[in-house]
Amino acid sequence: MRGTRRLPATVEPPPPAGRLREAAPCVAVVGAHILDVLGRPVTEIPPGQRSARLDEIRATAAGTAAGTAVDLARLGLRVRSFGAVGTDLLGDIVVQAMTANGVDARGVVRKSGAQTSATILPIRPDGSRPALHVPGATRLLQLADIDLDAVAGCDALLLGGPDALTGLSAADLATVVTAAKRAGALVAVDVLHPGSPRSLERLAGALALADWFCPNDDQLLELTGRAGQAGLTEAVADVLALGTGGVAVTLGPDGCLVTDQSRRSRPVPALKVPVVDTTGCGDGFNAGFLTGLLAGCEPADAASLGVACGALVATGLGSDAGIESLDQVLEFLRGQQAEVAERIGVLVAALARGAGASVEERWVKEHSA
Ligand SMILES: Nc1ncnc2c1ncn2[C@@H]1O[C@H](COP(=O)(O)OP(=O)(O)OP(=O)(O)O)[C@@H](O)[C@H]1O
Ligand SMILES: [Mg+2]
Repeated sequence: MRGTRRLPATVEPPPPAGRLREAAPCVAVVGAHILDVLGRPVTEIPPGQRSARLDEIRATAAGTAAGTAVDLARLGLRVRSFGAVGTDLLGDIVVQAMTANGVDARGVVRKSGAQTSATILPIRPDGSRPALHVPGATRLLQLADIDLDAVAGCDALLLGGPDALTGLSAADLATVVTAAKRAGALVAVDVLHPGSPRSLERLAGALALADWFCPNDDQLLELTGRAGQAGLTEAVADVLALGTGGVAVTLGPDGCLVTDQSRRSRPVPALKVPVVDTTGCGDGFNAGFLTGLLAGCEPADAASLGVACGALVATGLGSDAGIESLDQVLEFLRGQQAEVAERIGVLVAALARGAGASVEERWVKEHSA
């Protein structure tokens, strides 16, 4: 029988950590929670029963929601995560990895009817990777599993991988976004799979209410049915026509293209790094982009922070690699784009001085009762 249980009451909320945390804005992350097991370098699957020796194997809390949650926490934000994992060891590892990074994972429910969503990733020497995936418990998340008051108590919502949340209807997805929007939160949406126009139809209600959609270029083209056609411009326009505030489409090693509410498109170049593994670069981008937006940066500057985070994630194995702190990311950005880093740094410093204090007070008031 399928069942849901919340984490035992003995699991304490994570202690505040990091320079920004206490006064920091809070981000709710709702969506795909996946255990990634990665190995590198893999040039081929050995034939028959042969084995190959690797340099490194790692396990990480990944997926469009969990991976971004970890990166946001590393950047110093307060993060509350909502999703579903199994009652298996893989689920324990996902929750443990998130909690160890300071993410409040009390909103991650355990489902007995399926294993934790998981992916095996053999990483090639050039950093690219095939993925072997079990969809698992992410598909069992129900609307009733999500504490909408807690979501509404946050300053931002990332709906991460709603295409994988098949237990939620189109109306349910819109309900989650509405809860955040009504409370004045900033809402971003990103997807897990390439999808199709049919999946875009299912997401349309949520996207119509969202401030930002942050897919990669392949996903955007597949979703809008424009794969194989000339440009991204039309695909971006398709999403904006749904009512979405803006689109930040990531382009792997080519950075990203940001189209804001004024319909102005700005390319943001990628930063150069020695690439080890590109798994989770999109999650890194989302974390940096949201942090920049919450700090009050212009969308293109927020995207630069996203691009810097994405680049750092590519420097190591797994979606949690590379990002240590906001200061470290700014220092890295400063090395390649000094002016942008300066502009962002000023706004982020204001955030650290307590711009989120009123939100903190609201949070305590609403949730201490
Ligand atoms: N090879 C690279 N070199 C430098 N930066 C990169 C590289 N790959 C990705 N990035 C950065 O990370 C951002 C996100 O990457 P990408 O477009 O691959 O996202 P994604 O496909 O959604 O990734 P995932 O879903 O695996 O997390 C890019 O916009 C870019 O700035
Ligand atoms: Mg992505």
